[in-house]
Amino acid sequence: AIDPNFETNRERVGDEDGVAVWGPVEPPEKQGIRGTHVAVDFDICLADGACLEDCPVDVFEWTDTPDHPESERKANPADEDQCIDCMLCVDVCPVDAIDVDPG
Ligand code: SF4
Ligand code: F3S
Repeated sequence: AIDPNFETNRERVGDEDGVAVWGPVEPPEKQGIRGTHVAVDFDICLADGACLEDCPVDVFEWTDTPDHPESERKANPADEDQCIDCMLCVDVCPVDAIDVDPG
């Protein structure tokens, strides 16, 4: 599962499409955690898609991650600012790749 303390345990290595990237990032195998309020561990996400289907405010969009061992696309929390903290995505992700911090 995603580490809920990633902000402490990982280093912010940059931004991509306005979304924070928490390392390590070593493509194609290591893609890091993306987002802060809504965070997705790209190395755990296997492109199930439930988060994209169920989020009521369409926070997520697909991002391609060619040759990543789990899946070749990931749910990027591109519109995390729109999140209403309903926690649906956290509940539906089959591999617990998502952390939402309502703080
Ligand atoms: Fe969308 Fe709810 Fe998840 Fe926020 S907590 S990203 S609103 S599904
Ligand atoms: Fe990935 Fe989980 Fe969404 S596997 S696509 S973060 S439901």
